[in-house]
Amino acid sequence: MNITYKAPGKIILSGEHSVVYAKPALVTAIDLCLTCTVSTRKDRECKTHGKELNDGVNIIDKSVTNYLREKNIKHEIVPYDLKIVSQIPVGRGMGSSAALCVSLSAALSHLYTGHPLSKEQINTIAYRAEKHFHGNPSGVDVSASCFGGLIFFRKEFEFLKNISALHMKIPAVISQNLVILDTGKPEETTAEMVAIVGSKFNKDPINTETTLFKMEKITKRMVVAVAKEDPRMFEDSIYQNQLLLRELGVVSHEADKILADLSPAGYGKISGAGGSIDKSGLILFYIKNREEFENVIKIKKIKIIPFRQQFRGVEEVGSV
Ligand code: MEV
Repeated sequence: MNITYKAPGKIILSGEHSVVYAKPALVTAIDLCLTCTVSTRKDRECKTHGKELNDGVNIIDKSVTNYLREKNIKHEIVPYDLKIVSQIPVGRGMGSSAALCVSLSAALSHLYTGHPLSKEQINTIAYRAEKHFHGNPSGVDVSASCFGGLIFFRKEFEFLKNISALHMKIPAVISQNLVILDTGKPEETTAEMVAIVGSKFNKDPINTETTLFKMEKITKRMVVAVAKEDPRMFEDSIYQNQLLLRELGVVSHEADKILADLSPAGYGKISGAGGSIDKSGLILFYIKNREEFENVIKIKKIKIIPFRQQFRGVEEVGSV
């Protein structure tokens, strides 16, 4: 039996890091997917994928079986081969590990139970697995990958996450000007970047809390900009966002330099955990002047990823 599921990556429009501190984030699934195919095998020999990937697969597998046992869901554990194909750039802030957690949780739970689980169940399993990868994730990445579309996300407590589907597309007057720039893989992992903000919070709680509070206001302003189809308000929210992310210490000089070079062309903000040493991962960029934009991109040889929303979240793409 072959079971295949695919899950999308994500782009955080506003609220990365502040979302770890119970502030809201605005996130959308992006139309680049990671696909997992599990195929039953007759023997028990395990196929190797490289140590790092094997460890990750084992963690997700355990999260699936623990959940099925805990919820008394009838299942049978069977040996399998796994094939992973991904379009999502790794370690940049586009949620590649979340998409792996979601798509493999969906495929394995289906394989072991013989039927698909609900998206809510897959989200819970994938979130538990992601905690092993990232230490203290908010859950925004797995939720975007699992449910798809535009989501207003807030984790109130460990046991209570508000995942509000906004049931709207980013309007064309805004989305036609958005692109994703790849500034390269940061030295730091997401967990390390979350820890950097954590130690800033511990050293200077009052000022950091003020920055996080401003971030919440900007996130809500961005939602209003989308709802009102207001490109000016949207572009200003991107600009303000980047200033706050800089205050949190998650933007490298290199990323700042790229944005300074691109300033005649529009505004950008890092998206995801960022990076402070060298590269900062992905930048969400709002183009105001396309000619200037193309000139700088060409000279600086910056890789562009089209901004295309995905609305279906995790989905089964075939079982044989
Ligand atoms: C990473 O994509 C987003 C962060 O806010 C971490 C998290 O929410 O788990 C940096």
